[in-house]
Amino acid sequence: MRAITLPRFGDADVLTLADLPVPTPGPDDVLIRVQAAGINRPDILQRQGHYAPPPGASPLPGLEVAGEIVAIGKNVSGWKIGDAVMALLPGGGYADYALASAGCCLPIPPGWSWAEAACLPEAFLTVWANLFADTPFGRAERVLIHGGSSGIGTTAIQMVRASGGTPYVTCGDDAKCQKAEALGAERAVNYRTTDFAEAFKDTGLTTILDMVGGDYIGRGVRILAPRGRHISIAAQGGRTASFDVMDVLRKRLIITGSTLRPRSPTEKAGLVAGAQEKLWPSLASGAIKPVIFQTFLLENAAEAQKVMESGTHFGKIALLMER
Ligand SMILES: NC(=O)c1ccc[n+]([C@@H]2O[C@H](COP(=O)([O-])OP(=O)(O)OC[C@H]3O[C@@H](n4cnc5c(N)ncnc54)[C@H](OP(=O)(O)O)[C@@H]3O)[C@@H](O)[C@H]2O)c1
Repeated sequence: MRAITLPRFGDADVLTLADLPVPTPGPDDVLIRVQAAGINRPDILQRQGHYAPPPGASPLPGLEVAGEIVAIGKNVSGWKIGDAVMALLPGGGYADYALASAGCCLPIPPGWSWAEAACLPEAFLTVWANLFADTPFGRAERVLIHGGSSGIGTTAIQMVRASGGTPYVTCGDDAKCQKAEALGAERAVNYRTTDFAEAFKDTGLTTILDMVGGDYIGRGVRILAPRGRHISIAAQGGRTASFDVMDVLRKRLIITGSTLRPRSPTEKAGLVAGAQEKLWPSLASGAIKPVIFQTFLLENAAEAQKVMESGTHFGKIALLMER
């Protein structure tokens, strides 16, 4: 099969098209003939040598795909050969064929393109795991999402809206702010020209979903409402933070965070089942649907990652296998 490999760490041009054997499913896996694969920022971190695949995962990049099941492991029930699925992977998505744990597959909502289906799982399940899985989520939720233009951000805006909450975002330019508001953000603030902590200090934020870290954490802690949650999913702006501990005590805040990729297949399957149970109607109606910015052929994976690194995108970038 064709696959994009990482012979060494470096810039996007290290990504190399190679001919590899088709993987064989283990007892709990399905083998997917990939039609499209989503690109995620963690793929770039992996390429740069900053984000190693978890033990046992494919060393190839690619955390999400859509395609048809062509083989199943002996313990798998609920899926059959020929089913169209979108799947969360621990790696290996930039390829003609990929293995997924059966519990990490979802059916594809009616009318979605392969690219749309491929671009849902990683962002959808990251947002589910962090914002929804451990907390009842209701109309009173006022969520500030940093990176409103990102794959994660565009998905989170829709998930918060579909669940009755109110999303607020930060973006890096005014055009992205306008797009985020058109997508459902109550208010988008350009973080390069406006201090988000000043802009949202009277909003009564119940939750902040943060991919920036650094001084964003102290600023977020300052403006969260009592019993608020500050949730880190990345640290693009710095790994160390300082905040006023008295804010945490006085407002009884929760400061937390998580990563999705290293979790066990069983834990991921629990997230898939929970998210599917609660949000399937919003997927089926299209209220939650990936925003596709651009697609590339598999062999042009380097160009696709360069677009993500340029920061010009709004939403998701996908690879198409088109054989
Ligand atoms: N914890 C997990 O399990 C998990 C899973 C998946 C992804 N992630 C993380 O989530 C983030 C988004 O991933 P993605 O694949 O959706 O990537 P992406 O589309 O490339 O998005 C990166 C985003 O970061 C924003 N950003 C950078 N600096 C910022 C700042 N100072 N203030 C506000 N926003 C800033 C960018 O905003 P502008 O372009 O508008 O400047 C852009 O929207 C990445 O950091 C990724 O590593 C974490």
